[in-house]
Amino acid sequence: MTTQYGEFMKNTRVLLASRPVGLPKTDDWQIDSVAVEQPGEGEFLGEVLYLSLDPAMRGWINEGKSYVEPVGLGEVMRAGGVVRVIESRHPEFAVGDHVVGMSGAQKFWVSNGKGVKKVYPDLAPLPRYLGALGMPGMTAYFGILEVGELKEGDTVLVSGAAGAVGALVGQIARLKGCRVVGIAGGEEKCRYITEELGFDGAVDYKTESLQAAVRKLCPDGIDIYFDNVGGETLDVALSILRLNARVVICGAISQYNKTTPPEGPKNYLSLLVNRAKMEGFIVFDFAARYSDAIRDMSRWIDEGRLQAREHIVEGLETFPETLLMLFDGRNQGKLIIRV
Ligand SMILES: NC(=O)c1ccc[n+]([C@@H]2O[C@H](COP(=O)([O-])OP(=O)(O)OC[C@H]3O[C@@H](n4cnc5c(N)ncnc54)[C@H](OP(=O)(O)O)[C@@H]3O)[C@@H](O)[C@H]2O)c1
Repeated sequence: MTTQYGEFMKNTRVLLASRPVGLPKTDDWQIDSVAVEQPGEGEFLGEVLYLSLDPAMRGWINEGKSYVEPVGLGEVMRAGGVVRVIESRHPEFAVGDHVVGMSGAQKFWVSNGKGVKKVYPDLAPLPRYLGALGMPGMTAYFGILEVGELKEGDTVLVSGAAGAVGALVGQIARLKGCRVVGIAGGEEKCRYITEELGFDGAVDYKTESLQAAVRKLCPDGIDIYFDNVGGETLDVALSILRLNARVVICGAISQYNKTTPPEGPKNYLSLLVNRAKMEGFIVFDFAARYSDAIRDMSRWIDEGRLQAREHIVEGLETFPETLLMLFDGRNQGKLIIRV
C-alpha cells in the first residue's frame, strides 16, 4: 500500500559520512533526500518537528563500544525528537498524537513504537519535552538528587552551569535550600545564572582564574561538585571538597573532541582525605522513574520556581554547524533544531 506521504514527500536525512577526528567537520556529514518510508503493520509514520542536539552525540559517532552502539557510517545520525504521528498502523498511536523517541536526524520517521512516549502540547510547549521535561531534565533531577545525594544546606558547585543540564541542576539545588555556585563561559551566561536563575555566585572560566575565583566564592569548600565539563575544572573542584563530599560525573565536554586520551584528575587523593565519593551515571538507568521527575519538574515550572530555556535553531540542514554550538558555547539553553 502506498500512502500520500510516500508518493509526494521526500525524507531529508543527516547521515554520518566519516568518523570525525577532533571537532566534527561539515564533510563528516552527508545530507540526502529519499522517498518517505511506508509504515508496516504495527508501525506509524511520524513527522519530526523538533530535534535534540546533545554533547553525547560526539561520543556516539566514535568507533568502539560505549554505553550505546556507535552510529554506523552511512547511517542516519542518532537523535531524540518530538514527532507528530501522520499515519498509523499501530494500535497505540493515532494520527495527530505527539510523541518523543529516538527519531534520528531526519524529517520523517517510521517507528514500531518501542521506547516511544506520548507528549501533550496542551501541557507544555513541545520543545520542552527535549529539555527540562526530557533527557537533560531527567539527568539534572536524578543526577543531583540521587547520585549527588543533595541535602538542604549543601554548598553545590556546578560546571556547564548555563547549559541544559547545569542550569536545572543549580535551580533544583537552590529550591532544595542549597547554596549554589555555577561555572560558565562568558559574562552574559554568568549574569543569567545569578540574576535570572538565582544562583548565589558565578565564575566565568573564560576570563577568571578558576582556582582563585572558585575558592573565593566557596571559602568553606563544597559538598557537591556536579561535573559537566571534566578536565582542569574537575581538578579545581576536587581541591576544595569538604568532608563526605560527592562528585557527580555527569559529563566531560572539554574532553569530547580531544584526539588524545583524557587526562585523569591529579587531585583525586582529596577523595581519600575527605572520605568523599565520585560517581558517574547514565540517565537511562533511571528511566523507570522518569514520571516522578516529570511530575516534580512540571510543578516547579508551573509554580515559577524553575526556569526552562530552549535555544531553537531553524532547519535540519543546519545540523552539522548547529552541533558545533555545543562545543564553542554559542547555545543559550537546551539546543534544539526546529526541523
Ligand atoms: N550522564 C548522562 O546521562 C548525561 C545526560 C545528558 C547530558 N550529559 C552531559 O551533561 C553535560 C551538559 O550537557 P547539556 O546537554 O546540558 O549541554 P549544554 O550544557 O547545554 O551545552 C554544552 C555547554 O558546554 C560548555 N562547554 C563546551 N566546551 C567546553 C569546554 N571545553 N570547557 C568547559 N565548558 C565547555 C558550553 O558552555 P560555556 O559557554 O559555559 O562554555 C556549552 O554551552 C555534557 O557533558 C553531557 O555529555 C550527561
